[in-house]
Amino acid sequence: MALHRLIYASYVAPGLNAAEIDEIMAASARNNKKRFVTGALAFDRKYFLQCLEGEHQAINDLYNVVIRDERHHSVVLLDFRMVERRAFNSWMMPYAGSTEANSRIFFRYSGTDQFEPLTMSGGCAFGLLQELEQANAHPNSSDGGA
Ligand SMILES: Cc1cc2nc3c(=O)[nH]c(=O)nc-3n(C[C@H](O)[C@H](O)[C@H](O)COP(=O)(O)O)c2cc1C
Repeated sequence: MALHRLIYASYVAPGLNAAEIDEIMAASARNNKKRFVTGALAFDRKYFLQCLEGEHQAINDLYNVVIRDERHHSVVLLDFRMVERRAFNSWMMPYAGSTEANSRIFFRYSGTDQFEPLTMSGGCAFGLLQELEQANAHPNSSDGGA
């Protein structure tokens, strides 16, 4: 089955706390490695932006689970396409808070210096995620490859 990449953005559920973020991180690291899914999930207080890469069926199934998760809402699909190679070697969860370094990255990929992924094109969202991952991957991100 062909390798695919899916990108979506969503709103963080009101009141989501750090423990719940940790649970998402733990489930993602555990399941994605097992399913050979790579990519990144960037987040701040307001938004999630996720890129999932892997076999078509695996990505489609996972997306259908994730969009029903009540820890976020109003999911917007930004891109879903066949790709020739993975862009991410493993599974990462970069923080997208408004640090000075992140603001410079947001500025390169959008009309402002804010993290506003719901209105981004798939191409910009992809570039943004790659740079965020390089700049500040969470220390607990899985780096074991998939
Ligand atoms: C924004 C967001 C992103 C998520 N990303 C993933 C993911 O990449 N992989 C994953 O397995 N679960 C992800 N989840 C969690 C799933 O919705 C679901 O809770 C989890 O897959 C269940 O795992 P389990 O069957 O091992 O308990 C995500 C949840 C949210 C809210």
